[in-house]
Amino acid sequence: MKRLTFALLLVAAACKQEQSAVAPSVAQTPPPSSAQTAAPPAFVHDPHSYARPDEVRVTHLALDLDVDFAKKQLAGTAALTIQRTRPNASTLTLDTHDLAIQSVALNPGNVPAQFALATADPILGSKLTIPLQPATNTVVIRYASSPGARALQWLEPAMTAGKKQPFLLSQSEAILARTWVPLQDSPQVRFTYEATIRVPHELMAVMSAENVTQRSADGVYHFTMPQPVPSYLMALGVGDLAFRAFDGRSGVYAEVPVIDAASREFSDTPKMIGAAEQLYGPYRWGRYDLLVLPPSFPYGGMENPRLTFLTPTVIAGDKSLVSLIAHELAHSWSGNLVTNATWNDFWLNEGFTTYFEHRITEALYGREYSEMLWLLGLTQVKEELPTLPVKDQALYLDLTGRDPDDAPDLVYEKGALFLRLLEEKAGRARWDQFLRGYFDAHAFQSMTTTRFIDALKQGLPDVVQQVKVEEWIYGPGLPANCPQPHSEAFAKVEAAAKQFASGGPASAIDMTKWSSHERQHFVESLPSLTPARMGELDARFHFTDSGNSEVLFAWLMKSVEDRYKTAYPAIERFLTSQGRRKFVKPLYAALWSHAEDRAFAKEVYAKARASYHPVTQSAVDDTLK
Ligand code: BES
Ligand code: ZN
Repeated sequence: MKRLTFALLLVAAACKQEQSAVAPSVAQTPPPSSAQTAAPPAFVHDPHSYARPDEVRVTHLALDLDVDFAKKQLAGTAALTIQRTRPNASTLTLDTHDLAIQSVALNPGNVPAQFALATADPILGSKLTIPLQPATNTVVIRYASSPGARALQWLEPAMTAGKKQPFLLSQSEAILARTWVPLQDSPQVRFTYEATIRVPHELMAVMSAENVTQRSADGVYHFTMPQPVPSYLMALGVGDLAFRAFDGRSGVYAEVPVIDAASREFSDTPKMIGAAEQLYGPYRWGRYDLLVLPPSFPYGGMENPRLTFLTPTVIAGDKSLVSLIAHELAHSWSGNLVTNATWNDFWLNEGFTTYFEHRITEALYGREYSEMLWLLGLTQVKEELPTLPVKDQALYLDLTGRDPDDAPDLVYEKGALFLRLLEEKAGRARWDQFLRGYFDAHAFQSMTTTRFIDALKQGLPDVVQQVKVEEWIYGPGLPANCPQPHSEAFAKVEAAAKQFASGGPASAIDMTKWSSHERQHFVESLPSLTPARMGELDARFHFTDSGNSEVLFAWLMKSVEDRYKTAYPAIERFLTSQGRRKFVKPLYAALWSHAEDRAFAKEVYAKARASYHPVTQSAVDDTLK
């Protein structure tokens, strides 16, 4: 009974907040008071961190760093404010990876500490152990990053749009924050942060924090992040950037040559924020801005709070790939607000976000549109499943001993389909109310898979009885009760593909009114074709020259499989002009699987490797072994 009253209060509080958040405003919603949230959950063991937050935890980070492009180095201090979780705990344990630790001092008193840096594990890096004094409340670490720091990419001017200035970008998820900051690199540990970053005068620095929109005259930038975040959301970008506002609370940063196209392409961002708030409650992070990076950024997007990082390969010119913004924005709830407790629970971040992404695109562009995206996701699942060992086909994964960055992508769409099933069984209104209460109740906390199951059992007990929750979360493949998205448009595309496959002429197909999603689905629906038949399609539909990166990628993959050599110069252009891991790794893998393409793969990689982010480099290094 008490529980029920509490749940009702939560819903009431959420409704109130939604009303006040309707008018766009830069005023930020403060972290919720303890009255709104349950007590923070206990820490669980994290196989990807040496930190012991159950002993001592970091609550605030103050960074003071010089950005040195010549040395490819960040150097300065990290001051960590600590709290003892266990009274009398006397050791602070941190994660580092390839950091040079110069000194550690304990405050108050600026007392030098005898720290110990363990030998490095290739995946986890080096444990840093710092003995504390009883009065210690802050630990100041003087350090420098290494030029090979895996989170960081130092770009030569030639690799930027402007070609005149260098660029620095970071990518901390999953466990790479420790390569540029010594910290407790576990998603269960949340801290607020502030930073002073010094960059060359011609450049501008931005972070996953409160940003300025103007260049500073002296190259010194100050940042604050008042909401507590996990380490994997620490992010820094430095380049010759411009800013363009969409409205009072969102806008885009990009290099000058890209800013116009970017601000046109992503102009639906304010509407997306509005739709997301309508669904699952107020946006709690103040501003929501985008940063368009040079094409070597290794991901499509990264949900760094207040400042989503984006690949320029989603600028298609027709807004056809903006569901990626919906995805990164959705992480402001699923992931950034309610955070996977360990990387084993990664599906709680990405499965929820993919579901939420589809809901935002449905709200903005209609059900027909979002069903196409659901089906493109389903195709991906069906392609990936047979390549995965059974133990990697679950939503919950035990990634102990593995690099979490190598986790399969399956959890995105399989997780989303599982939530769609829950929606279908509960009914949309009830499901949305449950999810909204869930985000409110666990805001700024971490979540384990078992705690999620408990919340589900409590909130929707009748639904849990119907859906085989355990089979979805711990079992392989797609369970028999998997939802079946449907699209009339895609049914027509499949018919056209079938007709062509059975010998029909390309001229019988009219694609003039097709969206890029339909084109992509057409390519993905085709069976193996001869190079001559591939050529017929290409002559008519110009897939090899597609300006849509998803269509182009699907076509180039197929070209390798079907030995369509005419597309190989385009493969080389694609692999040397962008470094998105999702595109680059499978293309090299496909080439590598054909003995006669290996020399070509090696030759292209020799040209391209230096332009890839370390994350993409290691993925391809592994592939070409
Ligand atoms: N958080 C991920 C990116 C990520 C995941 C980085 C794991 C490092 C480790 C981001 O939100 C994401 O999922 N990006 C996708 C785009 C999305 C629309 C599927 C990508 O980069 O392709
Ligand atoms: Zn994501």
